[in-house]
Amino acid sequence: MERSFTHCLVLAIFLGLFALEATAGASFNYGDAMEKSLMFFEAQRSGKLPVNQRVKWRGDSGLRDGLLQGVDLVGGYYDAGDHVKFGLPMAFTVTMLSWGAIDYRKEITGLNQMGDTLAAIKWGTDYFIKAHTEPDVLWGQVGDGDSDHYCWERAEDMTTPRNAYKLDPNHPGSDLAGETAAAMAAASMAFKLYNSSYSSLLLAHGKQLFSFADRFRGQYDDSIQCARQYYTSSGYSDELLWAAAWLFRATGDEYYLKYVVDNAVSMGGTGWAVKEFSWDNKYAGVQILLSKVLMEGRGGAYASTLKKYQAKADFFACACLQKNDGYNVPLTPGGLVYLHEWNNMQYASSAAFLLAVYSDYLSAENAVLKCPDAQVQPYELLNFAKSQADYILGKNPKSMSYLVGYGQKYPVHAHHRGSSIASVAVLHSTVGCVEGFESWYHRPEANPNVIYGGLVGGPDKNDGFSDDRSNYEQTEPTLSGGAPLVGLFSKLQSLIGTSGSHSQKSPAPHHQNTPIIYADVPVEFIHFITNTWTIGRTTYYRHKVIIKNKSQKPITDLKLAIENLSGTLWGLNPCQEKNTYELPQWMKVLQPGSQSSFVYVQGGPQAKVSVLSYH
Ligand SMILES: *[C@@H]1O[C@H](CO)[C@@H](O)[C@H](O)[C@H]1NC(C)=O
Ligand SMILES: *[C@@H]1O[C@H](CO)[C@@H](O)[C@H](O)[C@H]1NC(C)=O
Ligand SMILES: *[C@@H]1O[C@H](CO)[C@@H](O)[C@H](O)[C@H]1NC(C)=O
Repeated sequence: MERSFTHCLVLAIFLGLFALEATAGASFNYGDAMEKSLMFFEAQRSGKLPVNQRVKWRGDSGLRDGLLQGVDLVGGYYDAGDHVKFGLPMAFTVTMLSWGAIDYRKEITGLNQMGDTLAAIKWGTDYFIKAHTEPDVLWGQVGDGDSDHYCWERAEDMTTPRNAYKLDPNHPGSDLAGETAAAMAAASMAFKLYNSSYSSLLLAHGKQLFSFADRFRGQYDDSIQCARQYYTSSGYSDELLWAAAWLFRATGDEYYLKYVVDNAVSMGGTGWAVKEFSWDNKYAGVQILLSKVLMEGRGGAYASTLKKYQAKADFFACACLQKNDGYNVPLTPGGLVYLHEWNNMQYASSAAFLLAVYSDYLSAENAVLKCPDAQVQPYELLNFAKSQADYILGKNPKSMSYLVGYGQKYPVHAHHRGSSIASVAVLHSTVGCVEGFESWYHRPEANPNVIYGGLVGGPDKNDGFSDDRSNYEQTEPTLSGGAPLVGLFSKLQSLIGTSGSHSQKSPAPHHQNTPIIYADVPVEFIHFITNTWTIGRTTYYRHKVIIKNKSQKPITDLKLAIENLSGTLWGLNPCQEKNTYELPQWMKVLQPGSQSSFVYVQGGPQAKVSVLSYH
C-alpha cells in the first residue's frame, strides 16, 4: 500500500497533477457534502422564508426584529443552536462563503450550486444592507445570549426579547464594522458576474463601512456589551487590515494596499504569527490574501512589506503542516486541528480552506512553500486541507461524520433548538420556553429534524466525542464552522472529477427524463440525473425523483418502496420496514397536480421506486 501510494504520488507530480488523485479510490462524496453544507444556511435563516426554501421544517420567524428600535432588521442568520443574530460571526460567515464563491467559481458552477451559494451569501448581505442604516451606523446584534439561552424554543415560537444593538460614532466597533466591510467587498466580487448592480451596491456599503470602522476606532464588545460573553473580540486591528485587503482585491484601488502596508507594523499584520484563523482572528487570512498580490507581481513599491506578510502566511501554513520547527498547530492523534475545547471543528474547517486557497495561489505562480523543516510543494497544502475535510466526513477514529446528515453515522443529537423540536409544520401548537427543555431538550431520542450540513463542534483532543444534546461544546453547529466548507468541498470534488476526466465525455445522460407511470396508482415518478462524476472506476450519479400527485381523491399514508439503493438518500423519511419510505411529516398531503421530490446519490444503476401502499 505505502509503496504503491508513493509511486502514484511521484507519477502524479511528474504529470503535474495533484497527489490527491492517488488516493481518490477511497474518496468521499464531497459534492454531496457541499450541497448539504449549503442546506445548513437555509436552516439558520431568520425572517420571512422564500417559496423555494428547501428546509421545510423551518417557518417564518423574527418578523418584528428591529421594530421597537424603528429599524427593519428582519432577515439574516441565527448564529448556531440559538436565535441570537450575532453580527461578527455572521459577517465572517458571509466573507468566507464569498471567498469560496470567488476562488472556486468554476468548481461550484460545475456542481450546479452557484445559485444556492449566492443565495446563501445574499441572505446575509441583504440583512447587512438593512442593518447599515447610515454611513456611520451599523446594527450589530439582535437578541441577547443570556435571555435567549434561558429558553429552548423554536425560532418560530420565540418569546425572548429581541433587543437590537448598534454601533455609531459614540459606540464604535472597528472589528464588527471592519468584518462587515470585508463581507460586503468579498460578496461584491462573488456577485460581479451575476448581478453587477447588486455587486456595486455591496461595494459601496463595504467602502462606507470600512471608513466608519477606521475613523471611529474601538472594540465592538465595549459598545455592544452583551456580545462579550459569547463573541469577545481579541482586537480590531486584524479586521481593519482584512477589510482593506478585501477592498483592495475588490477594487484594485491602491489606497487600500497602501493602508495595509502603512499599518503593517502598528496593526500587527507583519508582526503576528498565528496558528488560528477564525471569526475572531483574521491575520492568517490577511497574510495569505496579500501573498497572492505579491506573487502576482502587483506589489510594486510595497513589495518589501508584502514579503513580510508572506513570511507570516508561510508560518501559518508550515505550522498546519507540522513543518515549522516545533511551532506547530496542535493535532489530535487522529490528525484533526485542535485549538479549543469549544466548537473546535470551526478552526479545522477554516484552516483547511486557507491552505486550499494558498495552495492554489502558490501553484498558479509555480512557487513552493519554504518551511523551516522542509520545502513543500503546493499539493501538500491541499493534502492537508483534504485531511481535515476527510476527518470531518468520517476518516477518523470514531468513523463518524461530523457533518450532520452526511454518511451513515453522524450526530443525531445536535444542540440546536429547531432541529431538536418537532417542526412547526407538524406540531402547530407553541412549544414554550421551559416546555422545550422538559419535552424536547432532555429527550434521549434523536432530533426530529435532521439539520443537514451542520458542522458540529466535534471531538475532544483525543478524538473522543459524545453525541449528547447537552454537550454543546461538541454537538452545536455554528455558522462560522460551516462557511469555509462550501468552497473547500467544491475544490476537493473537482479534483476527483478531473481524475476521471478521460471518461468525462462519456455518454452518461445528464438530464435524462424518464417518466415512469403506474396506471392505477395516484402518483407518478419522474426520474432525472442531475449530476455525475467519477471516483476511481465508479461513476456516481445524483438522481432526483419527482413525485407528482395525479389523483383527485384523498389518499393518505403513501408508502414507497425503494430497492437497490446503495447510496445516500434525502427528502424522504425511512420507515421501520426495510426499503420503505414515506413523505416527510410536513409534506403528508400533496395537492392535486403538485409535486414533491427526493434525491439520492449512488454509483451503478438507479434505484427502483414504487408505490407500496396508500389509503
Ligand atoms: C440584481 O440586484 C438588484 C438589487 O440590487 C435586484 O433588484 C435585481 O432584481 C437583481 N437582478 C437579478 C437579475 O437578479
Ligand atoms: C393528491 O390530491 C388529492 C386531492 O386534493 C388529495 O386528496 C390527496 O391526498 C393527494 N395525494 C397525496 C399523496 O397527498
Ligand atoms: C436489487 O434488489 C433486489 C432485492 O431487493 C435483489 O434481489 C437484486 O439482486 C438487486 N439488484 C441489483 C442489481 O443490485
